[in-house]
Amino acid sequence: MPKALAAEATNPLADELTTGRRAEPCSLVIFGATGDLTKRKLVPSLMGLAKDGLLPPAFAVTGFARRDWSDADFRKELKDGVQQFGRKGTAAMFDAMADAFTFHQSNFADPSGYYSLREHLDRIDKERGTKGNRLFYLATPPSSYSQILQNLATAGLSRDDLEQKRFARVIVEKPFGHDLASAHALNEQIRAAFYEGQVFRIDHYLGKETVQNILALRFANGIFEPLWNEKYVDHVQITVAESIGVGSRGGYFEESGIIRDMIQNHLLQVLTLVAMEPPIALTANSVRDEKVKVLKAIRSFAPAEVAAATVRGQYTAASFGGEDVKGYIEEEGVPADSRTETFAAVRLQVNNWRWAGTPFFLRSGKRLPRRATEIAIHFKRPPLTLFGQSNVQPNVLLLRIQPDEGITLRFGSKVPGPDVKVRDVRMDFRYGAAFGGETADAYERLLLDAMLGDGTLFARRDEVEEAWRIVDSIVAGWQKDGRRPEPYAAGTWGPDSAARLLGDGRTWRQP
Ligand code: BG6
Repeated sequence: MPKALAAEATNPLADELTTGRRAEPCSLVIFGATGDLTKRKLVPSLMGLAKDGLLPPAFAVTGFARRDWSDADFRKELKDGVQQFGRKGTAAMFDAMADAFTFHQSNFADPSGYYSLREHLDRIDKERGTKGNRLFYLATPPSSYSQILQNLATAGLSRDDLEQKRFARVIVEKPFGHDLASAHALNEQIRAAFYEGQVFRIDHYLGKETVQNILALRFANGIFEPLWNEKYVDHVQITVAESIGVGSRGGYFEESGIIRDMIQNHLLQVLTLVAMEPPIALTANSVRDEKVKVLKAIRSFAPAEVAAATVRGQYTAASFGGEDVKGYIEEEGVPADSRTETFAAVRLQVNNWRWAGTPFFLRSGKRLPRRATEIAIHFKRPPLTLFGQSNVQPNVLLLRIQPDEGITLRFGSKVPGPDVKVRDVRMDFRYGAAFGGETADAYERLLLDAMLGDGTLFARRDEVEEAWRIVDSIVAGWQKDGRRPEPYAAGTWGPDSAARLLGDGRTWRQP
């Protein structure tokens, strides 16, 4: 083989993965279809797929819920959702295919409702050509998951029929358990009805274009990967900041806190993509094998180690963004003596050859100054200072996940003029400017992938359980310590002690 060709090895699996992404006809059944998620996200996303011509040629949606709704009530509610939350022009798409949406009223606990669902789906197969393929979406409170899974299995709805080429798949929404024990129990319930290849655990961050681009940036380019390790990277900061408070979700949030709501899933998932080794191919299991190795390389904390490696905060009332906002304990559904954290920062160490000695700092909070998700790779300083230390900061590669999606490289440049002065400048890439157009919602990609049976962007059982192992050890340390989270005024970047967590003269980026 000529030298140049040999150097550019291609992966025989790559073609297979990038072509033929066309979903088979199928029926989607949404459990808990009268809830907010269906109206705000799922159906508007389906219409986005329809607009882009990505829905299967034969497709139907059945809403399964307790409320006594007719097909017409269901359609009216969905249309309203598409108008409010859908992409431009999708309300007309909904009108054109409204009869593909039907409602099936039943209690989740009642087995007969699943036998009648089966008849309903058989009828739809005949009328609409959905070919016996079924995708079940669990969008109910998690307390109903177990009944639904059991009843699907009993009614014979959870079986794949490989001979007939019919699939049955299940999409499971978060929260995926409350701790390792409950996540494990839920996984066992799922396993009793479906095998792992049929299961699609949603983490909507994985459906975001910019999150998927982490792998493209790392593995489709030659220049970053050689630097992507402990030799060159001083530390990594992953921030998911929100300016909103908990609003009407106080009851839910009180039980989860930011560690369960955001860090266990979204931030740890992002961390795995930043830290993982190159997969042998972009297949679901190759990618997830590498991601799970990252989590396995993060040790559980002993309770006594937790205080030094974490900071917790709780927002207090303040004037912010031109209005007086409530403190967390004044929010609806939150007790006055709440010890739930609305901000957390954590220092994690990935103990493998690539990352030993390079800390990963994760930070997330509600009522921070602005909504911003970003990953900042902070590089080490050059070994010798020739230009005077004062105004040159270490290089940072910044991946802006949202909003203002893009990538920025910060580096030092000589200030024009006779003096030898160096100052920070930025090289900037913006998605909007480079690609234009509207970006699809994360749910569009995830729904399409589940229809295609591609689990790459879904959390596998072992990933979820490893993430809980880490989080459980942090929560255990907090519980043992018994202190309340530190207060921070709404509209600030969390408690002051978050700055001390970084150590070694490092500072948090202010998005
Ligand atoms: C959800 C959390 O998973 O993610 C919410 O439950 C949070 O508390 C939301 O607000 C953030 O998602 P996004 O896509 O707006 O960053």
